[in-house]
Amino acid sequence: MNILRFQTEQLLNEAAAGIFTALVQTNPRAVLGLATGGTPVGIYKELINAYEQGKVSFKEVTTFNLDEYANLDANHEQSYAYYMREKLFAHVDIQQSNIHIPNGKAADLHAESKAYDAKLNEVGHIDLQLLGLGHNGHIGFNEPADHLQNGTHVVTLAEETIQANARFFNSTDEVPKEAITMGVGSILKAHTLMLVVKGADKAEIVHRALRGPITTQCPASLLQTHPRLLVLVDEEAGRLLV
Ligand code: PGA
Repeated sequence: MNILRFQTEQLLNEAAAGIFTALVQTNPRAVLGLATGGTPVGIYKELINAYEQGKVSFKEVTTFNLDEYANLDANHEQSYAYYMREKLFAHVDIQQSNIHIPNGKAADLHAESKAYDAKLNEVGHIDLQLLGLGHNGHIGFNEPADHLQNGTHVVTLAEETIQANARFFNSTDEVPKEAITMGVGSILKAHTLMLVVKGADKAEIVHRALRGPITTQCPASLLQTHPRLLVLVDEEAGRLLV
C-alpha cells in the first residue's frame, strides 16, 4: 500500500485527477471505476479542467459507478446518475453508451444487479477504481456485516449511512433505505485502487481500515489485501496514520 499525504485538499484533488489523467493519456480505452459523495467532487472538477485544457479525452473511456440508491429516478437530484452527470459527465466528451451506473429504478433490483455484474465481466476488470470511505468503514454501499457479498447486490443502508447522507436531502426521511452496490469482490478485482479520504472526522476510521484487523465489520479493511492500493489523504484524515 502506498499512502500519499497532502497539505491541502486542492493539492490532493490535483494529484488524484493527475493519476486518472495519466492513465487515460496512456490508455485512452481505460475502464474507470467511479464514486460519488462529497469526497470526489473536487477531483472531478480537476478532471474537467484537464479536459478543457486539452490534456485528456474521455471519448473511448468506459466507466462503472460503485452504487446507486434504490427507487430514485435518474433525474432525481440526489440520484448518483444525476450527480455524475452534473459533476463530471456533462462537462467532458465521454460517450453515454460507455457510462455504467446501476439502475435504482429497475423493476427487479436483483436482476439489475446480475446484469451489472455481467457488464463488469464483459470488460474484464476495472483499471483504476476510485473509492471514498464511509464513517463506518463502508466502501461503495458495502456496510459492516458478518458476511460481505462478492458481486453487485441490493443492500439495506446502515442507519449511520442514512444519517451521514441526510445532509444532501431535505430530511432524513427522504434518504432511500436501500441501494444497489458493487460487491467487495468486484471492487477488489480492480487492477489499482485509489482510496481518497479527507477531513478530521475520517482520521479514526481510515486508521482502523488500514492499520486495524481485516474484518467484514470494517469493509474497507479488506483493501489491505489488495496488491496495488493507493491511499490519498489530507493532513487531517491522515493524522493517525504514522
Ligand atoms: P463522502 O462519502 O465522500 O460523502 O464522505 C464517502 C462514503 O460514504 O463512501
